[in-house]
Order: sequence, then structure tokens, then C-alpha cells
Amino acid sequence: MACDTAPDILYPYPVRLQRLDHLGGHEVKIGIIGAGMVGKTLATGLAEKGHQVRLANSRGPESVAESLGASTAKVTPSSTSATLACDLVFLTVPWTKVRDVLRSGGPKDGRILVDATNIFLRFPPEALIDDLKGDSGSEIVARLAPEARVVKAFNTLPFTTMFAPLPDGMERVLFVAGDDTMAVASVSDLIVELGLHPVPLGPLAQAGRLMELGGPLSGLELLTPAKEEA
Ligand SMILES: NC(=O)c1ccc[n+]([C@@H]2O[C@H](COP(=O)([O-])OP(=O)(O)OC[C@H]3O[C@@H](n4cnc5c(N)ncnc54)[C@H](OP(=O)(O)O)[C@@H]3O)[C@@H](O)[C@H]2O)c1
Repeated sequence: MACDTAPDILYPYPVRLQRLDHLGGHEVKIGIIGAGMVGKTLATGLAEKGHQVRLANSRGPESVAESLGASTAKVTPSSTSATLACDLVFLTVPWTKVRDVLRSGGPKDGRILVDATNIFLRFPPEALIDDLKGDSGSEIVARLAPEARVVKAFNTLPFTTMFAPLPDGMERVLFVAGDDTMAVASVSDLIVELGLHPVPLGPLAQAGRLMELGGPLSGLELLTPAKEEA
């Protein structure tokens, strides 16, 4: 089942995907490709906040449903192609699978692609990091998905740390990078909904590289006092 619906015609994506709180009545459909630790955590967290979420893995919707179990009825198991058609798509697959997922060119028409990948060829404990020879992961993703507005986020901390309990009155910082400020703002809104404190840093070519595995912001955990509710 496709995620995109009639509003495409009414609101071209660059206009329509303004800050989530400016979307009015339109329900943003969120797609997540990769149903492992990262994909499932984001899917359940965002569905609990009331979003429509589609989740895909490499083996098809039945296998996603099986891995979700009964606790996450609000997440819709989906195919990769239907998930790529959602308004905002998270890429949460191993780096070695990115080209496969984006082989058809990724999300179209200015939809947002949130790149949460890290450039591991092999995950820890025997980690092997890809040698990109001066390139960066998020810029490669942006080239593989030329019609998407790519935002780098959710990659700088292990998820066990990202969502670990916090001292009272504190929030955990999450760095965000992207070339399109409105797309970064939309993703920042989701980050806030998930209880984290977004810190947008700038474009992919600069900030994305700081956040990349081996960069100075990779693995850096920062806490900040939570803002008092008005
Ligand atoms: N784990 C963390 O704490 C963490 C933190 C920040 C960033 N990251 C990054 O986030 C990404 C995901 O990490 P993870 O720990 O969630 O990995 P994971 O647990 O190994 O899960 C990977 C998921 O990707 C799916 N997948 C693989 N190839 C696919 C394809 N061609 N099409 C659709 N889905 C595909 C897998 O589905 P199948 O099982 O069906 O193949 C699986 O559901 C990685 O790039 C990682 O470096 C991880």
C-alpha cells in the first residue's frame, strides 16, 4: 500500500513539509527502512506520539510484523517501496545496505530522508569502518537520493545511550545536520517529540562530517537543562 496520497497535487513537497507544527490538518506519514535496534526504537517512539509509521526490513512486512510482536500495533509493517513514498523517511539500515535501499533513487519530490547510518562495514565488537577517501556518508546518501532533502541525525550515540534514563531536569543533546533548513527544522521537531534536545549544526559537507563515525561529535554525549514548560 502506498503512503502518498492526494495532497501531493495540492501541496508540492517543499511547501508542504514545513515545520511539523505548521502542517495544520495534514498528518505526516513517516517511513522507516530498517527494522533493527534503531528502526524499531524510532518506529515505536514516533507511533506512541500519534504518528502514522510504516516500517520495512529486507524480508518483507510479515517478518516486520513478527519482529514487532503485539506491543506495537500502531506501527504498520510495510514494503521498502511503500515506505520510501512516505513524507519523511528514516534510513536505518547497515551502511553496507544503503546502496541497495536507494538503488531506485530514494525518496522523490523533496521528501525528507533522515540518514541515521554510520559507516561501519562491520559492527562492533570487531568493528570495521569504511574508508571513504575524503568523502562522507551523508553526502554519499544525498547523491544516491538526489530528489530528497537529506538530514543527518540519530547517528552520533548508541541507542542504548540516546534513550537511557536522565537526571531530573536534564535533556540529552542530539546533533542534526542538513542543507535544507526547513527539513532540519522538521526533523528537529520529531527529535523534541522523542524527548531529545536537537542541536542543528549546519550543512552536510561540514556538520555531517563532524557527526560521522570517527568525527569529533561521534559518540559525544551532552546533557543540557530542560526548558521549563511555558
Ligand atoms: N544500534 C545503534 O545504537 C545505532 C546508533 C546510531 C546509528 N546506528 C546506525 O543505524 C543503522 C541501523 O543500525 P541497527 O543497530 O538498527 O542495525 P540492525 O539491528 O542490524 O538492523 C538493520 C535493519 O536493516 C534492515 N535491512 C538490511 N538491508 C535492508 C534492505 N536492503 N532493505 C530494507 N531493510 C534492510 C534489516 O532487515 P533484515 O533483518 O530483514 O535484513 C534490519 O531490520 C546502521 O547504519 C547503524 O550504524 C546504529
